[in-house]
Amino acid sequence: MAIRLGDTAPNFTATTTQGELNFHEWLGDSWGILFSHPKDYTPVCTTELGEVARLKPEFDRRNVKVAGLSVDPIEDHHGWAGDIEETQGTALNFPLIADPKREIANLYDMIHEKANNTLTVRSVFVIAPDKTVKLTLTYPASTGRNFQEILRTIDSLQLTANHQVATPVNWNHGDRVIVVPSLSDADAKQKFGEFETVKPYLRYVPDPTA
Ligand code: BEZ
Repeated sequence: MAIRLGDTAPNFTATTTQGELNFHEWLGDSWGILFSHPKDYTPVCTTELGEVARLKPEFDRRNVKVAGLSVDPIEDHHGWAGDIEETQGTALNFPLIADPKREIANLYDMIHEKANNTLTVRSVFVIAPDKTVKLTLTYPASTGRNFQEILRTIDSLQLTANHQVATPVNWNHGDRVIVVPSLSDADAKQKFGEFETVKPYLRYVPDPTA
């Protein structure tokens, strides 16, 4: 069954390029990203994994642990890691899960039979420290993901979790943000001091993290 926002991210144990892991234990108190890619030794996936490795300091800064997954065996992951370092200029620095029996892929509904009945699509799950799923994305095999956008969504999710604000269309770090509708004017005044009211339901404050 599909995983929906608010669900608890299913736990699993896995073989990875960094050894065995229990997913929930490995996440600990961090945020997490679990993302699938269709196949080892393929071009789009090679560029994506190089980019995630390059962005590791950005994920670390946000207290986010990242794990990739494909249905290929661990020997292939280790062999392919050399190509990723050679062609993308960054060595793999996060666990890449080997799921040759498709157990985790099925648990997370990462195989969409009408797209391809054996390989995973490009799924992304963002998981909060309480293990609930906060965001899902699904891309086809032929479209590489934009990991700057994934960092942007994490910034937005963390703002909501920590500051009771939402982020408007095309928001980026530093842009003004929206007071969540569940906060009354009185509570917003207490929390933020001043805020701009465009409509009673559309109230802006500066990005509290800028
Ligand atoms: C790729 O990563 O390039 C890819 C993988 C599976 C199908 C199509 C493209």
